Amino acid sequence: MTHGTTPFSGRPSELVGRRIAGYRIESEIGRGGMAVVYRAHDLRLDRTVALKLLAPELARNDVFRKRFTHESRVAAAIDHPHIVPVFEADETDGVLYIAMRYVDGSDLRHLLDREGPLPPATAVRIAAQVASALDAAHENGLVHRDVKPGNVLVARGTDSDHPEHVYLTDFGLTKKSLSLTGFTSVGQFVGTLDYVAPEQISGQPVDGRCDVYGLACVVYECLAGRPPFLRDDDVALLWAHQNADPPPLTEARPGLPPYMDAVFARALAKSPEERHPTCGAFVAELRPTPGGGLGSAHPPTELAGTPALAPQPPRWAEPVFHPPGPG
Ligand SMILES: Nc1ncnc2c1ncn2[C@@H]1O[C@H](COP(=O)(O)OP(=O)(O)O)[C@@H](O)[C@H]1O
Ligand SMILES: [Mg+2]
Repeated sequence: MTHGTTPFSGRPSELVGRRIAGYRIESEIGRGGMAVVYRAHDLRLDRTVALKLLAPELARNDVFRKRFTHESRVAAAIDHPHIVPVFEADETDGVLYIAMRYVDGSDLRHLLDREGPLPPATAVRIAAQVASALDAAHENGLVHRDVKPGNVLVARGTDSDHPEHVYLTDFGLTKKSLSLTGFTSVGQFVGTLDYVAPEQISGQPVDGRCDVYGLACVVYECLAGRPPFLRDDDVALLWAHQNADPPPLTEARPGLPPYMDAVFARALAKSPEERHPTCGAFVAELRPTPGGGLGSAHPPTELAGTPALAPQPPRWAEPVFHPPGPG
């Protein structure tokens, strides 16, 4: 890249038409705190990709670079229908980049901003796909650590039974990688703190259960229209993750079945030991009817402290939302 033009100069058009590594930049898709994502053309393989260029500050940080390379490799090795395939992760002219599958659609952040709370059945379908991606990553020894709506890409699904296909992205680009490298000043690179687990905040070792917490925060927001904790500043928000009880979901959105409160109370427990052991276990408990939906292989869910599931119509029938009817 020639001097004077960086991906972060604030003028997205500057890079359009330019070539970076083996890619020609076509348009800017979006930007987060530490990267800009472009739609680009892979000149070698003649295909469209998403090209993520990381802030140059990150490339200058050795610890971050090593971790980026390592985790990108691990993520690239996981072949999973709900994880965005990474084609290449490398460095050129001092810029770290990742080339990955271009997902034609929206991310969950935009979807929630546009549509507000989702129909429960939609939220659970999305949750199930993200959960399967996370559990697969965990089985490969990789903890995501930055589960948030912006990292959930939603594409059109295959048919009316699968109206959306969801991809999880951004392994290895986590707040943890940043704090390890000293980029801790909240707000500088670290994005949202709405989904961060208590043990991440206190710097304890994390495992897959920190992603259970993050996923639960995301699904809570999908259903309630707001994340579990809303505070005026970052310090108060971090304190709340560590100490406050999340408001029951049914308070934020009356009409949701009360059993969901217990499910979220468990998934959002402060101590990882008290949470569901896997993301799949969390989502299984969210489902309204035994054997329904995606989890027909699961036995009926045991709901501690709530009446047994009766063979009734789905408990979240909601006329406000478009049901997956004919057409
Ligand atoms: N593989 C991809 N295909 C299509 N769009 C993508 C892809 N990866 C990221 N994006 C878009 O680029 C935006 C910016 O990504 P990112 O820099 O990771 O910021 P954040 O995750 O904070 O939103 C995302 O919100 C998403 O809409
Ligand atoms: Mg992202």
